[in-house]
Amino acid sequence: MAKFLISLIFSIFLFTVSNNLNPSAATSSVYNVLRFGAKGNGVIDSTEAFAKAWAAACASNESTIIYVPKGRYLLGSVAFKGECQSSDITFQIDGTLVAPADYRVLGQADNWLSFEGVSGVSIIGGALDAKGTSLWACKAAAGTTCPNGATTLSITNSNNVSIKGLLSLNSQMYHIVINRCQDVLVEGAKIIAAGDSPNTDGIHIQQSRNVKIRSSSIKTGDDCISIGRGTNNLWIERVTCGPGHGISIGSLGKDMDEEGVQNVTVWKTVFTGTQNGLRIKSWARPSNGFVKGVRFIDAVMQNVQNPIIIDQNYCPHNLNCPGQVSGVKISDIIYWNIRGTSSTPIAIKFNCSAKYPCEGIRLYKVNLSYLKLVAQSSCNNVIGKALGIVQPNTCL
Ligand SMILES: *[C@@H]1O[C@H](CO)[C@@H](O)[C@H](O)[C@H]1NC(C)=O
Ligand SMILES: *[C@@H]1O[C@H](CO)[C@@H](O)[C@H](O)[C@H]1NC(C)=O
Ligand SMILES: *[C@@H]1O[C@H](CO)[C@@H](O)[C@H](O)[C@H]1NC(C)=O
Ligand SMILES: *[C@@H]1O[C@H](CO)[C@@H](O)[C@H](O)[C@H]1NC(C)=O
Ligand SMILES: *[C@@H]1O[C@H](CO)[C@@H](O)[C@H](O)[C@H]1NC(C)=O
Repeated sequence: MAKFLISLIFSIFLFTVSNNLNPSAATSSVYNVLRFGAKGNGVIDSTEAFAKAWAAACASNESTIIYVPKGRYLLGSVAFKGECQSSDITFQIDGTLVAPADYRVLGQADNWLSFEGVSGVSIIGGALDAKGTSLWACKAAAGTTCPNGATTLSITNSNNVSIKGLLSLNSQMYHIVINRCQDVLVEGAKIIAAGDSPNTDGIHIQQSRNVKIRSSSIKTGDDCISIGRGTNNLWIERVTCGPGHGISIGSLGKDMDEEGVQNVTVWKTVFTGTQNGLRIKSWARPSNGFVKGVRFIDAVMQNVQNPIIIDQNYCPHNLNCPGQVSGVKISDIIYWNIRGTSSTPIAIKFNCSAKYPCEGIRLYKVNLSYLKLVAQSSCNNVIGKALGIVQPNTCL
């Protein structure tokens, strides 16, 4: 009997797995992009074909799969928009989507690929090659005459979206942006750009709630994950970061009216050679923004310039904020089990607002050294306490 049950469970498992792997065996309607005229040769523009496949899947009243077989598909800027009839659309991508080689084609667009106003969309697999290197070179050489560049994948005004197993290469600007969304999962993402590439943030989240980012590896030239205004109930788990600027809440408080950031958990992260580890950053400007309820748990720092940092004095080029203090109120922030090495002498830096000191900052079990030496910590306008063994000795 037990044997029978085990084999039954195993067959169900196999059935489920094969269904997931082979879309044609699933019960959903499948829209293969090749049927809409897409060409997987990397040369012929497939933008129209993808748009048509989306329109067909979106208009269906069933569960649908848009299937992208192996191959390289040249795509210009394309928006996949809702509302859709179908409440369950899976983009199953076995191929690579490639941006035009000339960076000027996407350069003025906000986004390369965007999903707007959708609900119940899953993006499974896929490699997105945004070909950003020539735009980075332009910015390094000429600066102001280059276009801004496009975000590789933008999800806006959408609910119930999952992105699993995505590879994103060399974005022109941000790799993934989640803006005004609810219930979004990013799992198993691999994000890669050069350590000196400009503004190539890995994942940026703002004005969104219930976002989870799990089991992902991010190597980039700016923040691995940046958390903007109005982010609530964010869960980050098992993320490796580096090169990059770390995981950053902020920059916040550039504007007077700003939604706060609340309930953020960052668990099991590894930072390697990054500029920052766990950062909270705000402009030195008046604002009604806030950050509260943040848990940074189990982080490993390897040669990180600022493993733990709160900086409320951000004022690039000393423009529009000299002499001002940040209005952003930071409270209830826990650092628990943070260990490893700082590449600078100050491993813990709290530089809070003179007007609104950081409150409820707690450190438990922190062990950070300056390479092999004893590190230091630095405190300005911060109230909190250290519990258990905390190295370096805190100034709290
Ligand atoms: C879906 O649409 C088809 C025709 O387009 C129709 O026959 C069918 O009843 C619809 N199903 C539901 C569940 O609305
Ligand atoms: C989310 O989408 C899945 C299918 O992708 C569906 O089964 C589920 O009911 C949706 N949940 C909500 C809250 O819309
Ligand atoms: C905080 O966010 C987590 C998800 O990250 C969620 O499970 C939890 O319910 C949230 N807590 C509150 C009080 O909303
Ligand atoms: C804290 O911020 C002030 C104002 O920008 C700056 O002068 C000071 O050097 C900072 N302290 C540390 C330790 O970075
Ligand atoms: C702190 O880390 C160092 C280097 O890894 C280690 O030798 C030391 O035992 C640790 N201290 C504590 C109290 O865990």
